[in-house]
Amino acid sequence: GKGDHRHYMLKEIYEQPQVIGDTLSTFFNPTAQTISMPNFPFDLKNIPRITIVACGTSFYAGLVAKYWIEQYARIGVDIDVASEFRYREAPMQDGGLALFISQSGETADTLAALRYAKSQGQSILSIVNVPESSMERESDAVLLTHAGPEIGVASTKAFTTQLTVLACFAISLAKAKGAIDTACEARLCRAMAEVPSRTAEVLNHDEALRKIAQNVAEARDVLYLGRGSSFPIAMEGALKLKEISYIHAEGYAAGEMKHGPIALIDENVPIIVIAPMDSNFEKTASNTQESVARGGKVIFMASKEGVEKMADHCIATVTMPNVDPFVAPILYSIPVQLLAYYVAIHKGTDVDQPRNLAKSVTVE
Ligand code: M6R
Repeated sequence: GKGDHRHYMLKEIYEQPQVIGDTLSTFFNPTAQTISMPNFPFDLKNIPRITIVACGTSFYAGLVAKYWIEQYARIGVDIDVASEFRYREAPMQDGGLALFISQSGETADTLAALRYAKSQGQSILSIVNVPESSMERESDAVLLTHAGPEIGVASTKAFTTQLTVLACFAISLAKAKGAIDTACEARLCRAMAEVPSRTAEVLNHDEALRKIAQNVAEARDVLYLGRGSSFPIAMEGALKLKEISYIHAEGYAAGEMKHGPIALIDENVPIIVIAPMDSNFEKTASNTQESVARGGKVIFMASKEGVEKMADHCIATVTMPNVDPFVAPILYSIPVQLLAYYVAIHKGTDVDQPRNLAKSVTVE
């Protein structure tokens, strides 16, 4: 049941500290403070290239993983949505690993893409939330998210547990490849160990988002901006808002604004900026100022330091804990989920069963 919560979606948002912790504990050795993977029928250190395929929110989890794997493990990652990948007859490198991400393990396009990759001689790894699903059965190896059943059509805890698995996978890959030293490995593992409590901290400060949602609920269009691993979080935020509030939203790479979308900006288009304190912060901040200069109303999500730098230019700010940039995409998922939820509440839409959508898309 929903317990004390008004909707499954809200219950599932609030379950995240627990389910992220459950998922992390399947890879985390608390004594050694290290992360390790189960034995795979392929050798991590020999993987020349990775292809990631998924749909919707699971695709955005894959996109975050591309940033993690390329930066830390130094392995090239191709990524595509399953409905495109399965038909475009992509050549695939010998010995490559194909990684499929799916909450349900039953999404028709993702499953078809998996079969194609198999026919191309790839090793198949799936990340699924439903054990004994089709994808689980047809893969060479499986990593489970321990999100528990997700009832809300808008995916929340499945996403952050997918990110948790993918972060652990990226660390293990980086280590197997010899691409990170022990100090870096220790830093990443420490950052991961903090995620459950940091997630709880973010959830305890959701008041600000409820107020901001009132403003956003009036809008016809909303822009979400981010750079680097925050770019997929911007797209995920936009998808959440579209799905449950029916407000048109776009997630954009902050640096792409001046290549077109900045023309849209006026006082009626709220701009949500995802700006953790990382090596992209200054660039994202200056893109934000460019939007403000054109009348844009910015809602800025950043650490205390980032918020202090930008507060004067924004109509609202969301102060996030100051975390290692590696885990920022997991933490910044929470405010974008809550914002979409509270906007939908203001609009009175059916949060758990949005119109036209099915929980699991088993048709092509
Ligand atoms: O079960 P899957 O993870 O394969 O589902 C993929 C998408 O259909 C799913 O993430 C969808 O985009 C969600 N409704 C997003 O909230």
